[in-house]
Amino acid sequence: MSWLITGGAGFIGAHVVRAMVEDGISVVVLDDLSTGDPVRLPAGVPLVNGSTLDRALLDRVIAEHRVEGVLHIAAKKQVGESVALPLHYYRENVEGLRVVLEAAAEAGVRRFLLSSSAAVYGMPDVETVTESTPCAPMSPYGETKLVGEWLVRATGRAHGMGTVALRYFNVAGAATPELGDPGVFNLVPMVFERLAAGKAPLVFGADYPTPDGTCIRDYIHVADIATAHVAAVHRLRDNPDDTELVLNIGRGEGVSVSEMLDVIGRVTGLDARGEVVDRRPGDPARVVASAELIAKELGWTAQYGVEEMIASAWAGWQLRHPE
Ligand code: WQD
Repeated sequence: MSWLITGGAGFIGAHVVRAMVEDGISVVVLDDLSTGDPVRLPAGVPLVNGSTLDRALLDRVIAEHRVEGVLHIAAKKQVGESVALPLHYYRENVEGLRVVLEAAAEAGVRRFLLSSSAAVYGMPDVETVTESTPCAPMSPYGETKLVGEWLVRATGRAHGMGTVALRYFNVAGAATPELGDPGVFNLVPMVFERLAAGKAPLVFGADYPTPDGTCIRDYIHVADIATAHVAAVHRLRDNPDDTELVLNIGRGEGVSVSEMLDVIGRVTGLDARGEVVDRRPGDPARVVASAELIAKELGWTAQYGVEEMIASAWAGWQLRHPE
């Protein structure tokens, strides 16, 4: 019996694969390698190169590997790109999920985990975001994640599947330098890219209603994201019948852009003082998770802080950019 991990060769997926293998759980990876890379997979993990939209392939993989549960991580994840290409995002993130769910349901798979996102909340006007904070996604990307949660919940109820959706907050860091994020779409890698080019990092707005005027987020180490998945898998394994969970994965601690730059300067030894530019449209001032429900339901809490996220991300960046 194995767990199918879609998107398992990607940045987050490969961390989940590694944590599952370390926990002694047998896995098979499905990845179209559009952004994934087979070198991220531990030796011996079977990789099927293909799309979540390929129903015949899914049927084959589920049968051949006697799949008992699915971790659906494969998705497009760039907010800005989703605004330009909504149909592509709905196809990959919603239709791709629908096909995986249908294949799983028809094969009698009884456990399903969806990787979701804090993007489902949009601009939450609260100090800490709980799972019952109303969802109001601001981008097609966030919409596809919310629709995905509904699809998973409805399918779980109709077909007797235990389901978990994990809403990731701001993911950073790397478990090993080789597993670092190759994308330059988020604050930490964007700052590294500026520093590597000898330029000051950009701060998108310093006039927000926060103590230092810069935006506050809940940054979470990708290795912690991975162990949260393992905890969810244990819950689904032991108790598929009454598991229908939607959980934040965060630390419950807000860190501002200025504070992040301070830590980046300290960790890298570079001058990381920022250059303030205009606000980026659509950025909420503050998004910080309540991490209470996941602690209660899964007994999981984050182990790493911002220093470890930045030090490990920097080691990964240096490995990929030896110059
Ligand atoms: C963080 C903060 C920026 C770059 C996005 C998605 C979210 C999730 C994670 C997928 C913001 C500021 C950034 C820079 C800056 N994605 N910033 N200078 O926007 O919180 O979340 O990624 O699930 O859905 O919306 O993350 O890393 O882009 O930005 O000042 O060069 O850093 O304004 O306040 P964000 P981010």
